[in-house]
Order: sequence, then C-alpha cells, then structure tokens
Amino acid sequence: MPRPIQNLLVTGGAGFIGVNFIRWLFDQPDAPDRIVNFDTLTYAGNPLSLLDLAEKAGDRYVFIKADICDAAAVKKAIKTYHIDAIAHFAAESHVDRSIVAPDEFVRTNILGTYTLLQAAREAGGQIQLFHHVSTDEVFGALGDTGFFTEDTPYAPNSPYSASKAASDHLVRAYHETYGLPTTLSNCSNNYGPFQFPEKLIPLMILNALEGKPLPIYGDGLNVRDWLFVTDHCAAIWRVMQEAACGSTYNVGGRNELPNLRVVEKICDLVDAKAPPLPDGNPRRSLITFVKDRPGHDRRYAIDCSKIERDLGWRPAETFSSGFERTVDWYLNNSDWCQQVRSGDYQNWIAAHYG
Ligand code: NAD
Ligand code: TYD
Repeated sequence: MPRPIQNLLVTGGAGFIGVNFIRWLFDQPDAPDRIVNFDTLTYAGNPLSLLDLAEKAGDRYVFIKADICDAAAVKKAIKTYHIDAIAHFAAESHVDRSIVAPDEFVRTNILGTYTLLQAAREAGGQIQLFHHVSTDEVFGALGDTGFFTEDTPYAPNSPYSASKAASDHLVRAYHETYGLPTTLSNCSNNYGPFQFPEKLIPLMILNALEGKPLPIYGDGLNVRDWLFVTDHCAAIWRVMQEAACGSTYNVGGRNELPNLRVVEKICDLVDAKAPPLPDGNPRRSLITFVKDRPGHDRRYAIDCSKIERDLGWRPAETFSSGFERTVDWYLNNSDWCQQVRSGDYQNWIAAHYG
C-alpha cells in the first residue's frame, strides 16, 4: 500500500529540482491534495518557474517565502497547513560557491536541516514522513572503477558535500534516536529544464549559444553520472510512497560521461539547432581549458540496483533523449534564462570573480 500523503511541505521548491518535482507531482494521479512550497528565494530560487502551475492548481498550491532556519516559520507552516509529509530539497547546492563562501552552506544545509527535523519531531505524530533529498557527493570520489552503493562510507571532499553529509547524518540520527519516520535518497548529477545556469550543462548551453568561452576545469576527464531531472523526481516520490522508514536509496542514471564529452555534445547540438557563430567556426572552438577546481572529485558513479530491485524504479529518459530535450528547452526559454541571470547572480559573480 503506498503511503498516503495529503498535505506535503516541499522545501526549496523554487529551485531546479524542486520546481520540476512540484510540476511533475501535480501531473500524477496520486498527487497529494495540497503542496506547500517553502522557499526563501536565494539567487537559485525562481517562483516564476511555477507561475502557470500556481494559477492552474488554485488552493492546492501554496507558496511561503521563508527560511528553513527560521523555526517559528517552519512550525507555523506545518501547523497551518496540516502537513503530514516533508520533502526537503532546500539547500545551497553549487560546489564552486561552497569553495569561495562555505558559511551559507553550513547554515542552510546543516542548521536548516536540523531546524526542519526538530520541527517535524515537535509536531508529534503529525509528520508521517520526512524525506531528505541528498547527493552522491557525500561518498567522495571514485577512481576509474567501482560504484557508490548505499553502504559506501561517507568521505565528502567539498564544503558542499560535507554539509550535505552532515545533514544526512542528522536525518539518520533523528530516525534512530527519536523514531522520526525518515527516508533518504542520494542522487547523481541532474540535468534538465529550470536548472540555474551556473551548473555545467545549462552554463555550457547558454555560453555556446552566445559564442562565449566554454570553461572546462582541469583536463576535462572528470566523470559524472547524469540523470534527467524528472527521473529523479519519480524516484523520490517512489521512495516517499513505498520505502521503509529509516531506509536510504541511491539514484543514478547509469550515464557516465567525462565533462569534455558532455560539452562536445552540447556544442554539436547547439550547432545543429541555432544560427552559426559569426566567425563560422564550430562551437567546439569555444572550448577553453581553465585552472582545475580545488579538491575536484574525479569520478562519481552510482549503483542504483537497490531502488530498481526494491521499488521497481527505472529512468524513463536515455541520455540522448533527455539531453536533446534539455538543449531545446534552453533554446526556447530565453526569457527565463535572461531573468535568472540578472540581479543577484550578476552581483555575486562580480563580487567573487571580478
Ligand atoms: P538549487 O540550488 O537549484 O535550489 C535550491 C533551492 O533552495 C532554491 O530555490 C533556494 O531559494 C532554496 N533555499 C536555499 N536556501 C534556503 C533556505 N535557507 N531556506 C529556504 N529555502 C532555501 O538546488 P537543486 O539543484 O534544485 O537541488 C535541490 C536538492 O537536491 C539539494 O538538496 C541538493 O543537494 C540535492 N541534489 C542536487 C543534485 C543536482 O544535480 N542538482 C543532485 C543530487 C542532489
Ligand atoms: P557541476 O555542474 O558544478 O556539478 P558538480 O560539481 O556538483 O558535479 O559540475 C559538473 C562537472 O563539470 C564537475 O566535474 C565540474 C565541471 N565543470 C567545468 O568543467 N566547468 C564549469 O564551468 C563548471 C560549472 C563545471
């Protein structure tokens, strides 16, 4: 029997995966009665990504602009909307920013997760499930072979992954110590619509389109395992509905690619779909090798056989289908791209990168 969820609190629902999750979930026959999106709107949060949905969903969708570190606001939301489950996405999520300025990562990812767990605990039996959305980066880096399983020891290398690892441990502790009903998923790199263009794939699509340099860190042979975002959303919902409390699941796309190959594919697709560069050169000519990221994890790869076996989850998109959909989305949504790249993001870039 799937776990019945009526009033779902989604934290970070204005960010990349949260937006896709809310959009995807409202299309499912077993969607909750109401989704409350709790998001403080950092540079990465964009409520306009959900404007059309908010109109269609009426009072089944509620947006609260608040910080997950604000215990009173969290408790009020849980009480007011009779929340029975929490899907916790809110985080500072970009590794490069965590290297330059780790403080917000510690605050939001650790203190924020603690604040939510504590509020869920204090709500007594009202919260039937607290699902924590986490990353495979908590496991550290792989060499040329091997995969992360649910039993791989944690060995985070960046301030981002260390803060996510700390939050995972808090989730585990609240289950073991207080009996809070929790589930946890550790997913590989996502790609798809609505991703803020600081992460590899959207940044490279937009730079390629605009004829700007395509900065590849180090030798470009670092490997990531790419998963289309709605496949991740489906995995989260499957875990939330069916997994045992206290369980953790790895989620991945079985799509390992070196960064250079990903960027070459983007160049070729943008060449095929957009007007040529003014100098007539193919977009691969924009590829520029730059200084490596400090502590750059060499390879991530997920063994997702547990979620396949226990819950029957499988990704629906192949890398080529998901990748083409993603490039098309960025080419067709220039207004969204322009909007998220203005204001705060530009100030931050100016402050930190000159
Ligand atoms: P994102 O950076 O696009 O969005 C994060 C959202 O959280 C934004 O809307 C932001 O406004 C909100 N937020 C940040 N601080 C907050 C605070 N203090 N209070 C309330 N809201 C706050 O991130 P994303 O890529 O959508 O990632 C979502 C979650 O999934 C994160 O927990 C991340 O660690 C995890 N994850 C991401 C990936 C990936 O490839 N992007 C892969 C695995 C796991
Ligand atoms: P990113 O999208 O930041 O995700 P993560 O660091 O969480 O895996 O980066 C994906 C890979 O791409 C990572 O190996 C770093 C690399 N990268 C570049 O080479 N150039 C860039 O400009 C960016 C943003 C990332």
